[in-house]
Amino acid sequence: MASALAPIATVQNLFNLAKRDAEPLLEHCEAHGIGFIPWFPLATGELSAADGVLGEAAREHDATPSQLALAWLLRRSPVMLPIPGTSSVEHLDSNTAAAGIELSDEEYDALTALGG
Ligand SMILES: NC(=O)c1ccc[n+]([C@@H]2O[C@H](COP(=O)([O-])OP(=O)(O)OC[C@H]3O[C@@H](n4cnc5c(N)ncnc54)[C@H](OP(=O)(O)O)[C@@H]3O)[C@@H](O)[C@H]2O)c1
Repeated sequence: MASALAPIATVQNLFNLAKRDAEPLLEHCEAHGIGFIPWFPLATGELSAADGVLGEAAREHDATPSQLALAWLLRRSPVMLPIPGTSSVEHLDSNTAAAGIELSDEEYDALTALGG
């Protein structure tokens, strides 16, 4: 256990709406107040596609698919620290605004089911 050797501030693991194998590690981080940085928070852009799994839900929410993917991550856990990659200032602004989207329990559950 790494924390026996030194205090652990954050960990980074593959995690996004569509890839959630790291749930047990995330739960460990939540229990111990360790920040969790989801690697590939947008599934390298796959979750950003207008015709992807989040396309219809995004149109219903007046949001972009990327914003829903990020809002879902932020709603998933208080220790979640997403750092989406982008080469576009427009996408940066849009992704930052996702922090202001609050999902209800029902919306969160529906998105969770979409991610399978
Ligand atoms: N631990 C590791 O080995 C490792 C390896 C790779 C990455 N990472 C981490 O993963 C994170 C990001 O990785 P990543 O950039 O490869 O993957 P990502 O954040 O899942 O996806 C980035 C892709 O999404 C697109 N995108 C971003 N915002 C968008 C928007 N609003 N609308 C449409 N498309 C959008 C980007 O295209 P545009 O440029 O067109 O916006 C880019 O193609 C970082 O925290 C990085 O440190 C870790």
